[in-house]
Amino acid sequence: MINCPFREHRLYIEFIKKNSKGSPVTELNDHYSQHLNYNQLIQQVADSFPEGPTCFDLAPLDQLHIGGIKASKQLLEHIKPYSHPRVLDVGAGLGGLLRLAASEQEIDGVALDFTHAFSQLNQALNLLSGSECISVVSGDAQLLPFASDYFDCVIFQHSLLNIPKPSEALKEALRVLKPGGRIVCHEVIKGQNPEAIEFPVPWAARAELSFLHCTQDIRRQIESAGFEISSCDDWTEQALMWRARQTGKEQSGQARSGLSPAAVLGNQFATMGKNVHQALQNGAIGIIELAAQKPQSR
Ligand SMILES: C[S@@+](CC[C@H](N)C(=O)[O-])C[C@H]1O[C@@H](n2cnc3c(N)ncnc32)[C@H](O)[C@@H]1O
Repeated sequence: MINCPFREHRLYIEFIKKNSKGSPVTELNDHYSQHLNYNQLIQQVADSFPEGPTCFDLAPLDQLHIGGIKASKQLLEHIKPYSHPRVLDVGAGLGGLLRLAASEQEIDGVALDFTHAFSQLNQALNLLSGSECISVVSGDAQLLPFASDYFDCVIFQHSLLNIPKPSEALKEALRVLKPGGRIVCHEVIKGQNPEAIEFPVPWAARAELSFLHCTQDIRRQIESAGFEISSCDDWTEQALMWRARQTGKEQSGQARSGLSPAAVLGNQFATMGKNVHQALQNGAIGIIELAAQKPQSR
């Protein structure tokens, strides 16, 4: 079962609204859930993959970030040094990252997202794909429902971009990590030419829902939370090449199962993809991958 203490979705939203420290909860929930048709999607996945879907089968649906499953594979290199790590994915969406991690190594995974409809679908996809080692929790990154010093690794993949003040979420990440544990961020950042971005984009239908920060700002916030940064790489070039390939695939309708981000984000996804492509090209946005450690002693 999804670990959500509220039987009614309305009560969960009220709780999250009261405690979410400035996140535009209702608008974000609507943005991510208004086009989802749970029954239809589950049926479609079950019919297309009677043996159970692989991570690659689900990727057009559940890797909701720039760079797709290839970027996730690269990101997961950061958990490889741990044996049977406890991994928390914050803003997990439909959970593609942790299913991929579980297909590559033994993990204890927790996927947390505040869009409850995503958590429900994520849980169903875990069952269909046999990923029982992953728990799904609905909650807010800024108020994590976990004990301190528990996880080996906390991952933010395109989720800080929806959080007005990432410092609260970063402090919480530090708290729940074991000493020496690692935070990994794969995020969209504000580029040199931020005003050139056009909306809608996949993470926001309008400018007021998008919270991008420049690399320096993110670094500063991560360090002020108490982390020591070990690497920060610019992935913008490879993201641009990936987006160009995706545009080609989307136009030729290549996905065998018919699964696509449009099943989550609606018909506007074509415009969102085009806007992301342009924003990467004209320097409105960039992509970084950053890793940092919680110090052994504080
Ligand atoms: C662009 S999606 C990325 C999903 C997933 N990480 C991926 O890469 O496929 C951003 C996700 O962050 C979630 N999110 C936004 N703000 C959040 C918050 N304060 N706490 C938890 N999740 C949040 C949204 O509900 C959404 O699922």
